[in-house]
Amino acid sequence: MKTGIFYISHHGTTEKVVKQISEKTSQETELINIKKTKVSDINSYDLIVLGSSIHAGSNQRKMKSFIKKNKDMLLNKKLALILCCMDDTEKREQQFKDAYPEELRQHSSSNLLAGGEFLFEKMNFIEKSIIKKISGSDQNQSNIDEEAINKFINSLDNISD
Ligand SMILES: Cc1cc2nc3c(=O)[nH]c(=O)nc-3n(C[C@H](O)[C@H](O)[C@H](O)COP(=O)(O)O)c2cc1C
Repeated sequence: MKTGIFYISHHGTTEKVVKQISEKTSQETELINIKKTKVSDINSYDLIVLGSSIHAGSNQRKMKSFIKKNKDMLLNKKLALILCCMDDTEKREQQFKDAYPEELRQHSSSNLLAGGEFLFEKMNFIEKSIIKKISGSDQNQSNIDEEAINKFINSLDNISD
Protein backbone atom coordinates (compact mmCIF):
# COMPACT_ATOMS: atom_id res chain seq x y z
CA MET A 1 0.00 0.00 0.00
CA LYS A 2 1.47 3.39 -0.97
CA THR A 3 2.22 5.16 2.30
CA GLY A 4 3.11 8.80 2.91
CA ILE A 5 4.65 9.63 6.27
CA PHE A 6 4.12 13.36 6.79
CA TYR A 7 6.13 14.62 9.73
CA ILE A 8 7.71 17.58 11.44
CA SER A 9 10.59 17.47 13.89
CA HIS A 10 12.20 20.25 15.90
CA HIS A 11 15.39 18.54 17.09
CA GLY A 12 15.34 15.40 14.94
CA THR A 13 13.76 12.81 17.23
CA THR A 14 10.48 12.42 15.32
CA GLU A 15 12.54 12.28 12.14
CA LYS A 16 14.65 9.47 13.60
CA VAL A 17 11.52 7.56 14.64
CA VAL A 18 9.75 7.90 11.28
CA LYS A 19 12.94 6.90 9.40
CA GLN A 20 13.16 3.76 11.52
CA ILE A 21 9.50 2.98 10.80
CA SER A 22 9.98 3.64 7.09
CA GLU A 23 12.97 1.28 6.93
CA LYS A 24 11.31 -1.54 8.85
CA THR A 25 7.71 -1.57 7.63
CA SER A 26 6.70 -3.74 4.69
CA GLN A 27 4.56 -0.89 3.35
CA GLU A 28 6.02 1.11 0.47
CA THR A 29 6.74 4.44 2.19
CA GLU A 30 7.74 7.97 1.30
CA LEU A 31 8.90 10.39 3.98
CA ILE A 32 7.73 13.98 3.67
CA ASN A 33 9.04 16.64 6.06
CA ILE A 34 6.20 19.17 5.93
CA LYS A 35 8.49 21.98 7.10
CA LYS A 36 10.96 21.48 4.26
CA THR A 37 8.86 20.10 1.42
CA LYS A 38 5.97 21.75 -0.36
CA VAL A 39 3.29 19.11 -0.09
CA SER A 40 1.40 18.77 -3.34
CA ASP A 41 -0.25 15.40 -3.86
CA ILE A 42 -1.52 13.80 -0.67
CA ASN A 43 -4.27 12.09 -2.61
CA SER A 44 -1.83 9.69 -4.27
CA TYR A 45 -1.26 7.82 -0.97
CA ASP A 46 -3.48 5.00 0.33
CA LEU A 47 -2.15 5.15 3.88
CA ILE A 48 -1.12 8.38 5.58
CA VAL A 49 0.99 8.52 8.74
CA LEU A 50 1.31 11.82 10.63
CA GLY A 51 4.24 12.42 13.02
CA SER A 52 4.88 15.42 15.25
CA SER A 53 6.28 16.29 18.69
CA ILE A 54 5.37 18.24 21.80
CA HIS A 55 7.16 21.46 22.76
CA ALA A 56 5.80 23.48 25.67
CA GLY A 57 2.60 21.44 25.81
CA SER A 58 1.67 21.53 22.14
CA ASN A 59 2.65 20.02 18.81
CA GLN A 60 3.87 22.12 15.90
CA ARG A 61 1.59 24.80 14.44
CA LYS A 62 2.59 23.66 10.96
CA MET A 63 1.18 20.16 11.65
CA LYS A 64 -2.01 21.67 13.06
CA SER A 65 -2.52 23.76 9.90
CA PHE A 66 -1.61 20.78 7.68
CA ILE A 67 -4.36 18.77 9.42
CA LYS A 68 -6.88 21.61 9.18
CA LYS A 69 -6.21 22.08 5.47
CA ASN A 70 -6.37 18.37 4.61
CA LYS A 71 -8.84 17.02 7.17
CA ASP A 72 -11.47 15.78 4.70
CA MET A 73 -8.87 13.96 2.65
CA LEU A 74 -7.24 12.47 5.77
CA LEU A 75 -10.62 11.11 6.83
CA ASN A 76 -10.92 9.37 3.47
CA LYS A 77 -7.57 7.59 3.77
CA LYS A 78 -6.17 4.87 5.98
CA LEU A 79 -4.52 6.81 8.79
CA ALA A 80 -1.97 6.32 11.58
CA LEU A 81 -0.72 8.87 14.12
CA ILE A 82 2.64 9.33 15.88
CA LEU A 83 3.62 11.68 18.69
CA CYS A 84 7.03 12.17 20.31
CA CYS A 85 7.18 13.68 23.80
CA MET A 86 9.19 13.25 26.99
CA ASP A 87 6.30 13.07 29.42
CA ASP A 88 5.69 9.47 30.44
CA THR A 89 2.77 10.07 32.80
CA GLU A 90 -0.94 10.01 31.92
CA LYS A 91 -0.46 13.64 30.79
CA ARG A 92 1.01 12.38 27.53
CA GLU A 93 -2.40 10.92 26.57
CA GLN A 94 -3.84 14.42 26.93
CA GLN A 95 -0.97 15.83 24.86
CA PHE A 96 -1.82 13.27 22.16
CA LYS A 97 -5.49 14.31 22.27
CA ASP A 98 -4.53 17.97 21.98
CA ALA A 99 -2.15 17.23 19.10
CA TYR A 100 -4.62 15.34 16.90
CA PRO A 101 -8.33 16.24 16.61
CA GLU A 102 -10.90 13.71 17.82
CA GLU A 103 -12.19 12.87 14.33
CA LEU A 104 -8.70 11.87 13.23
CA ARG A 105 -8.02 9.90 16.42
CA GLN A 106 -11.23 7.96 15.94
CA HIS A 107 -10.48 7.32 12.29
CA SER A 108 -6.85 6.28 12.92
CA SER A 109 -6.01 2.56 12.64
CA SER A 110 -2.92 2.80 14.81
CA ASN A 111 -1.43 5.32 17.23
CA LEU A 112 2.11 5.60 18.58
CA LEU A 113 3.40 7.48 21.60
CA ALA A 114 7.06 7.00 20.77
CA GLY A 115 8.71 8.69 23.77
CA GLY A 116 11.33 11.36 23.17
CA GLU A 117 14.79 12.78 23.75
CA PHE A 118 16.38 15.86 25.27
CA LEU A 119 19.27 16.74 22.96
CA PHE A 120 21.08 19.70 24.50
CA GLU A 121 23.36 20.27 21.49
CA LYS A 122 20.26 20.97 19.38
CA MET A 123 18.67 23.41 21.85
CA ASN A 124 18.98 27.18 21.84
CA PHE A 125 19.94 29.07 25.00
CA ILE A 126 16.36 29.50 26.25
CA GLU A 127 15.41 25.87 25.57
CA LYS A 128 18.55 24.70 27.38
CA SER A 129 17.73 26.68 30.49
CA ILE A 130 14.05 25.58 30.49
CA ILE A 131 14.91 21.88 30.08
CA LYS A 132 17.75 22.07 32.60
CA LYS A 133 15.28 23.49 35.12
CA ILE A 134 12.52 20.98 34.35
CA SER A 135 14.68 17.87 34.17
CA GLY A 136 17.23 18.91 36.81
CA SER A 137 20.08 17.95 34.47
CA ASP A 138 22.03 19.30 31.51
CA GLN A 139 22.74 15.83 30.13
CA ASN A 140 21.08 14.35 27.07
CA GLN A 141 18.24 11.97 27.87
CA SER A 142 16.38 9.41 25.80
CA ASN A 143 13.23 7.50 26.55
CA ILE A 144 12.38 6.36 23.04
CA ASP A 145 9.98 3.44 23.37
CA GLU A 146 11.41 0.83 20.98
CA GLU A 147 8.81 -1.74 22.02
CA ALA A 148 5.94 0.62 21.18
CA ILE A 149 7.63 1.49 17.86
CA ASN A 150 7.95 -2.20 16.92
CA LYS A 151 4.30 -2.81 17.82
CA PHE A 152 3.31 0.16 15.67
CA ILE A 153 5.37 -1.19 12.74
CA ASN A 154 3.55 -4.54 13.06
CA SER A 155 0.19 -2.82 13.08
CA LEU A 156 1.13 -0.77 9.99
CA ASP A 157 2.17 -3.96 8.21
CA ASN A 158 -1.29 -5.38 8.91
CA ILE A 159 -3.19 -2.44 7.42
CA SER A 160 -4.57 -3.53 4.06
CA ASP A 161 -7.03 -2.26 1.43
C1 LIG B 1 11.89 23.46 24.80
C2 LIG B 1 11.27 22.10 24.92
C3 LIG B 1 9.99 21.97 25.47
C4 LIG B 1 9.41 20.70 25.61
N1 LIG B 1 8.16 20.60 26.14
C5 LIG B 1 7.61 19.37 26.32
C6 LIG B 1 6.32 19.23 26.90
O1 LIG B 1 5.63 20.18 27.20
N2 LIG B 1 5.85 17.96 27.10
C7 LIG B 1 6.58 16.84 26.75
O2 LIG B 1 6.10 15.73 26.98
N3 LIG B 1 7.79 16.95 26.16
C8 LIG B 1 8.32 18.18 25.93
N4 LIG B 1 9.55 18.31 25.33
C9 LIG B 1 10.24 17.10 24.88
C10 LIG B 1 10.11 16.90 23.37
O3 LIG B 1 8.82 16.46 23.04
C11 LIG B 1 11.19 15.89 22.96
O4 LIG B 1 12.42 16.54 23.05
C12 LIG B 1 10.97 15.29 21.59
O5 LIG B 1 11.88 14.22 21.43
C13 LIG B 1 11.18 16.32 20.50
O6 LIG B 1 11.00 15.72 19.24
P1 LIG B 1 11.51 16.46 17.93
O7 LIG B 1 13.00 16.58 18.01
O8 LIG B 1 11.09 15.58 16.81
O9 LIG B 1 10.82 17.79 17.87
C14 LIG B 1 10.14 19.54 25.18
C15 LIG B 1 11.41 19.69 24.62
C16 LIG B 1 11.98 20.94 24.50
C17 LIG B 1 13.37 21.07 23.92
